[in-house]
This record gives sequence, structure tokens and C-alpha cells, in this order.
Amino acid sequence: MSATFDLTGKVAIVTGGGRGIGRSIALGLADAGADVAVTARSGDQLKAVVEEIKAKGRKAIAIEVDLMKPELIPSIVEGTVAEFGKVDILINNAARSFMRGLLDLREDGYDKIFDVNVKAAFLLAREAAKEMMTHGGGHIVNITTVGAVRGGSGMGIYHASKAALTMLTKCMAVEWSMLNINVNAVGPGLTRTPFSEPIWSNPDIEAALASRIPQGRLAEPEEIVGAVLFLCTENAHYITGETIYVDGGSLANT
Ligand SMILES: NC(=O)c1ccc[n+]([C@@H]2O[C@H](COP(=O)([O-])OP(=O)(O)OC[C@H]3O[C@@H](n4cnc5c(N)ncnc54)[C@H](OP(=O)(O)O)[C@@H]3O)[C@@H](O)[C@H]2O)c1
Repeated sequence: MSATFDLTGKVAIVTGGGRGIGRSIALGLADAGADVAVTARSGDQLKAVVEEIKAKGRKAIAIEVDLMKPELIPSIVEGTVAEFGKVDILINNAARSFMRGLLDLREDGYDKIFDVNVKAAFLLAREAAKEMMTHGGGHIVNITTVGAVRGGSGMGIYHASKAALTMLTKCMAVEWSMLNINVNAVGPGLTRTPFSEPIWSNPDIEAALASRIPQGRLAEPEEIVGAVLFLCTENAHYITGETIYVDGGSLANT
């Protein structure tokens, strides 16, 4: 098998594809040759990414869906199939969190975090898997975090949700191996996006956090893309149920 990252002819869905890491992944998939459906709530952000992908000569569509409405989740796969005929790749990237201690997080905050980060990721993966199995398989990559395997304060329920997604990654990988569907995860360390802006917008906090990262700095969103692309290619065919951490050495340092 020759090593190639060419995804020409493949069709991908990227949730949370309007900004941050999801936007970078969507653009990276397009650079590799895939056509891409990007989904989120903010239509303007999605439309901007669709234009960027089209400027690369690939096809793209925006699907505006709130992942907290589970009844709408099948429409993401249906809309993609209606436009491109199939789904080969799903990137479960969308997530939400609140900076709140465990004593202060409200019950509806807990529900919002788990509804988007775990329930929606599962429901969409299941819809995508049912479509993928009609044409010989596919690749699912769930975006988790170093916080899935490392404790911390202020985002405990977010970390717990990503730990759940990590285990779900393994269980989906086991059940769907026979369908030729690979399910893996990529776990970024702290990455400079709107999501983490409350952290990196304060230079003192950023410097303190960066000093604990062996490479001495936060990641840029584009630096998460390579691991995701690798897991979507035949190079990674015998890898399933795994997580690749892209963290500048953070987990090696704990
Ligand atoms: N940034 C970091 O430091 C970091 C570190 C580790 C892991 N991660 C993970 O990386 C992934 C991307 O994070 P990011 O930093 O790029 O975040 P971001 O900039 O906040 O982007 C999150 C994306 O998710 C979408 N989203 C959120 N809630 C949604 C909902 N209810 N329905 C549909 N879409 C929704 C957002 O779009 P709308 O708001 O328009 O819906 C947005 O496109 C997440 O899984 C996150 O947990 C990030």
C-alpha cells in the first residue's frame, strides 16, 4: 500500500465546521480532495467556509442545524446524501462547555454539554454509519481533548463528556469494525480558537498554561488537522478505537 493522503472522490461531514478547529479540518479535507458538508448553528460562518472550500475547487454545502435538537440530526446525513450521493467521512467536532466549578454548574448546563458533546455525536455517528455501510464503509473521527484523561478544575463536566466520547469511540469501533467503519478520536491540547479565548486572551493565564506544555505554546487550529486527515485515509486502515493526542507533549508531561 502506498502512503497517500489523497481523499479525492470522498464526501465528508464536519460538525462545528464554521470556525476554530472544525473550520481548519473542513479546509484540510478539501485540500486533500474531499467534498465537504459543514454544519453548525451560525449560518454566516458556515457560508464563509463554504466559499473558502469552493475557492479551492471542491464542492461544499452548509447545513444549519442545532445539535441540541436530536430530531434534526438525521437531516445532516440526508442533506449530504441529497447533494453528494453518499457519506465517507464524519468528523464529530462540535462541542460546548461552560467555565464553571462543579458546585456552580446548573443542571441544564450539564444537559447542554452532554447533549452536544456525547448524545449528538452518537446519534450522528449512527446515522452516518447506517449510510456508510450501504457502500462498503467509512471513517469517523471524534474530536475529544487531553481533558478526557486528565483531571482539572472549572470544566469538569466538559471533561467527563469527552471521556464518555472517548469510550464511545472504542465501543463504536468494536461494533462497526465488521462494517469496515473505522472510528477513532483526536484529542487536542489547548488550541487558539474562539472556544478557548477566555483563557488565551489573558496573557498572564496563557503564559502560565504555556509553561506547562513541553513545546511551550498553545496549538493553532491548523495543527490539529494532520492527525484527523491521517485517520481518514487508508494509511490508518488498521487503526480503530484509538485516540491521537495533539498536545505539544502535555500528556507526556503529567
Ligand atoms: N480550543 C481548544 O483549546 C480545544 C482543546 C481541546 C479540544 N477541543 C475540541 O475541539 C473541538 C472544536 O473546538 P473549537 O475550539 O474549535 O470550538 P469553537 O471555536 O467554539 O467552535 C465550536 C463549533 O461547534 C459548533 N457548535 C457548538 N454548539 C453547537 C450546537 N448546539 N449545534 C451545532 N453546532 C454547535 C459551533 O457553531 P455554532 O455556535 O454556530 O453552532 C462551532 O462551529 C471541540 O470538540 C472541542 O471540545 C478544543
